Amino acid sequence: MNQRPSIIVTGASSGIGAHCARALVRDGWRVFATVRREQDRVPLEAEGIETFLMDYTDAASIHALADAVLARTGGRLDALYNNGAYGQPGAVEDLPTDVLRLQFETNVFGWHELTRRVIPVMRAAGRGRIVNCSSILGLVPYKWRGAYNASKYALEGLTVTMMMELRGSGIHVSLIEPGPIRSDFMANALKAAEANIDLENTVHRVEYQRQLKRLRGELAGARGKLGPEAVYDVLRHALTSPAPKPHYIVTKPARRGVLLKRLLPSGLFYRILGSLG
Ligand SMILES: NC(=O)c1ccc[n+]([C@@H]2O[C@H](COP(=O)([O-])OP(=O)(O)OC[C@H]3O[C@@H](n4cnc5c(N)ncnc54)[C@H](OP(=O)(O)O)[C@@H]3O)[C@@H](O)[C@H]2O)c1
Repeated sequence: MNQRPSIIVTGASSGIGAHCARALVRDGWRVFATVRREQDRVPLEAEGIETFLMDYTDAASIHALADAVLARTGGRLDALYNNGAYGQPGAVEDLPTDVLRLQFETNVFGWHELTRRVIPVMRAAGRGRIVNCSSILGLVPYKWRGAYNASKYALEGLTVTMMMELRGSGIHVSLIEPGPIRSDFMANALKAAEANIDLENTVHRVEYQRQLKRLRGELAGARGKLGPEAVYDVLRHALTSPAPKPHYIVTKPARRGVLLKRLLPSGLFYRILGSLG
């Protein structure tokens, strides 16, 4: 009997990760999904997904995850989908540096740590897929999201470098850059804004009121927002195509942003971008 291909999916408690973990199981994958709370394991396990507790800010939990998965598979792993992340809102001048550091611990350093655990296994097998969920904000920055923009730009840099370095190893590396997708992302960003930014004693107080409304979903929703299945469509391609792409840009607004960045003089481009958000 053929073994099912195996994959680690991080951040599967909600949104894109939860959807992709379920869709992958339906498509015949053996899915090892990570969450941070015990109670989030239950619904996933009920659907045949093997779950683990892992927090990207906790290196020991990353190592324990990799060891436990490899023990279950007999030392092989076909794919890694780094997905778990959050957005830290706040103007750059209002970001405590430790808050910026924490954004990178989750969105960059934890992903790097897990990826480094997985590469030797894939190298030994001479094959593997690594897919990192970046964001359109890793290519086109928006105001009030400096920490998140910077973390995704850093992720882009690391990932494309790794992509070139792994050429010829049999390991394919792809980035997914979604625009607006329905998930718990905005609700979690709202919590991060309220917890970590002084929203009152700042020159940006009035703008922050608008940003809080946006994060609460009280403004007109982002145009072109899609469900998480749009991300799964390209994830499946990145995992199974004989020729996976380096970049998968998802949603019309994201594609439009990249096109305008290519076409417009940079001064004009950032003036237009600066009027949005
Ligand atoms: N939604 C969008 O519009 C959008 C657009 C572009 C890119 N993305 C990217 O898509 C990915 C998934 O986000 P989403 O939209 O599905 O948001 P989401 O519903 O908030 O899901 C984020 C997931 O990441 C997990 N997570 C957060 N901090 C973590 C940490 N320190 N260690 C491990 N896991 C952690 C969360 O776990 P908890 O439940 O424990 O917090 C949750 O499972 C992210 O990489 C995000 O940057 C989203």
